[in-house]
Formats: sequence, structure tokens, C-alpha cells
Amino acid sequence: MREIGKNKFSVHGDVEISEISNGIYRISGFDDAFGITFNQFLIDDEQPTLIHTGPFGMYKKIEEKVKEVIPLQKLTYVAFLHFESDEWGGMAFLDSANARLVCSDLSSKLNLTGWYNIPVDHISFWDNENLKTGKRIFKFIMTPHIHHWDSMMIFEETTKSLFPSDLFIQPGNNKSVIEEDLSDKMLALYRGAGIFASEGPKTNI
Ligand SMILES: [Fe+2]
Ligand SMILES: [Fe+2]
Repeated sequence: MREIGKNKFSVHGDVEISEISNGIYRISGFDDAFGITFNQFLIDDEQPTLIHTGPFGMYKKIEEKVKEVIPLQKLTYVAFLHFESDEWGGMAFLDSANARLVCSDLSSKLNLTGWYNIPVDHISFWDNENLKTGKRIFKFIMTPHIHHWDSMMIFEETTKSLFPSDLFIQPGNNKSVIEEDLSDKMLALYRGAGIFASEGPKTNI
């Protein structure tokens, strides 16, 4: 029999932060239950952005790392690229009063309506729309059904950084993959796990 309502995430380890590009930080926490890291990204700019919050139970540790780079009150945008708890599970606990939630228009229409006690004040984006946060320009790329039906990716134009919304997965607790191309290996693992849509991944993105 399965226990219903038990929080599966068991994040006991440290959450680490590293700068992976100029002003772009990876905040990484290892999840014991799944044997993978959840990775969040902080982009320090005039209007700082956090991409993903981590799940409930991990957010406070992530918040501590955010505070090593910026005062929390400066955090302007919190983006989740698809509707899952590791992307947005900590949002209700954000102490950053002015942060605005950012998501895809599909997340907004399909997942953010009709919930009790969830802050739904958010900004949604559609394909090829941009958000300028100072020096950085985020371009939103809609990729529905790649990982999830509401998935979108963000491409930061000035550093040419892609935030791929769980397109890739790697088991274990690893350092940031910055230049090494592990895409075939990572995609194979995903296909094996059956997470992609049945017709195979879209390749023209
Ligand atoms: Fe995720
Ligand atoms: Fe995901």
C-alpha cells in the first residue's frame, strides 16, 4: 500500500552555489530520494531573476545561497519553466515581497487557475517574447510536451545561455556541465526513463 500525502523529497545535504558564467549562478541541491540534483539558476542583473525555487524543504537552503549574491528583497523575478514542485514548490514561502512569478502562457492557463491559497499573481510569456532585466535579455521559447505539456525554455541572448527546463538529466551529485557535451548520454537516460513524449523529442529548437 502506498502512503498518500507523504512528502517524498528528502533533502538533507548541502546546497551549493557556483558561478557558471558572468553573473549566472547555479544553486544545486542533492535529493536523496531520486539520486539527482535539483538545479536552480540565479541571474544577477539590475532586476535579478531566479529560475526555479527547488521543492518544498529545499527552498530555504536555496534562499540562503541567493542571499550570498543579492539581498533577497532585490529579487525581481522567479521563473518556473514547467509546473513541478522542484520548479516552483517553494514559491509560497518566498520572503522576497517584490518578486514576480514568471511562467509560460500554457502554465498560466493550464496549471495556475482554480487552486486554493496559491499566489497566482504572475506574468506569462509566449513563444519568442522577451524580458529585459538590465543587461540580460531573456527570450522565451515554448516547447510544449518536451518534458511537460506546459514546458518552455529560456535563452539568455547576451551570454547565449540556454535554460532547458529539464531537457537533460544526469544521475548523481555532479559539478556544473558547462562546455562538455553530454547531451546524447543525458537524452538516452531520459528516453529510457520514459519521460519524453511518445513520438520522440523535438529537435528543431
Ligand atoms: Fe525539475
Ligand atoms: Fe521537471
